[in-house]
Amino acid sequence: MHTRTDTDIDAHTDTRTGTPLAGRTALVTGSTDGIGAAIARTLAARGAMVIVSGRSAERGRDVVDAIAAAGGRARFVRADLADGAGVRALAEAAGPVDILVNNAAMLITPSPTADVAEELIDGALAVNVKAAFLLTGLVAPGMAARGGGAIVNLGSVNGLRGAAHSALYSATKATVHSLTASWAAEYGPRGVRVNTVAPGPTVTDKTVLLMDHIQPVLDRTPAGRAGRAEEVAAAVAFLAGDDATHIHGATLTVDGGLTAV
Ligand SMILES: NC(=O)c1ccc[n+]([C@@H]2O[C@H](COP(=O)([O-])OP(=O)(O)OC[C@H]3O[C@@H](n4cnc5c(N)ncnc54)[C@H](OP(=O)(O)O)[C@@H]3O)[C@@H](O)[C@H]2O)c1
Repeated sequence: MHTRTDTDIDAHTDTRTGTPLAGRTALVTGSTDGIGAAIARTLAARGAMVIVSGRSAERGRDVVDAIAAAGGRARFVRADLADGAGVRALAEAAGPVDILVNNAAMLITPSPTADVAEELIDGALAVNVKAAFLLTGLVAPGMAARGGGAIVNLGSVNGLRGAAHSALYSATKATVHSLTASWAAEYGPRGVRVNTVAPGPTVTDKTVLLMDHIQPVLDRTPAGRAGRAEEVAAAVAFLAGDDATHIHGATLTVDGGLTAV
């Protein structure tokens, strides 16, 4: 029996060639770090001009430099999406875009519902829900007017199923899934496809230390391991591109089979 190795997985992801997104501009929120940075790198590798965004100019510059070093095109727009003014400033600075990835989110340390502070509820709703809501409203009509586009929202397996001590984060992500369906209905007939990528546990600098803790859960999944940011990014790039022209309102789980079995 052939056992999958890291080399197999890398060889598979390395087969991506060509620049199918050439001529398109992609705005990726929260792309200074983690999954968003991988999405920015992947879209740029496929030819898109990528607008990298987040609060940290230093990390944003690192992502832009890495894209440029790999032969891609990107620029950084600093934005704090905690309030509407920040969202409007980002939309204005970004200008017309063909691809919008609503990725920025506040990850929330699990805690009992009764211990969740009101400010944390407001903050999580602002970044995880309100910012994507406002930004889509600012960007999607322009996409439609220019002939179409693609929006990919980052949901989560936590938005699909219950988990103790995760009520706030899960609620924000379930709302993102709902927004995808509503926006597919609203913007799809005008040429803008809207879909969700729902990652399972994915290794980033911030989550890496949690992975040992959840390995017993991952052991029961078909993949048997956590995801990689690049694997989530590949799903986003697929939904954003022309291989997905008949896909509207879908949720693509990238969770190693966690929610399937
Ligand atoms: N990692 C996982 O296991 C996992 C699993 C399921 C779903 N997801 C989803 O995947 C997406 C990316 O997660 P991640 O793990 O990559 O998160 P992350 O490493 O914490 O990165 C979050 C990004 O969002 C930005 N951000 C946070 N607050 C912001 C604000 N107020 N204004 C503007 N930007 C802000 C951060 O940039 P700055 O710090 O520069 O502002 C950063 O670039 C999220 O939607 C998350 O819910 C992740």
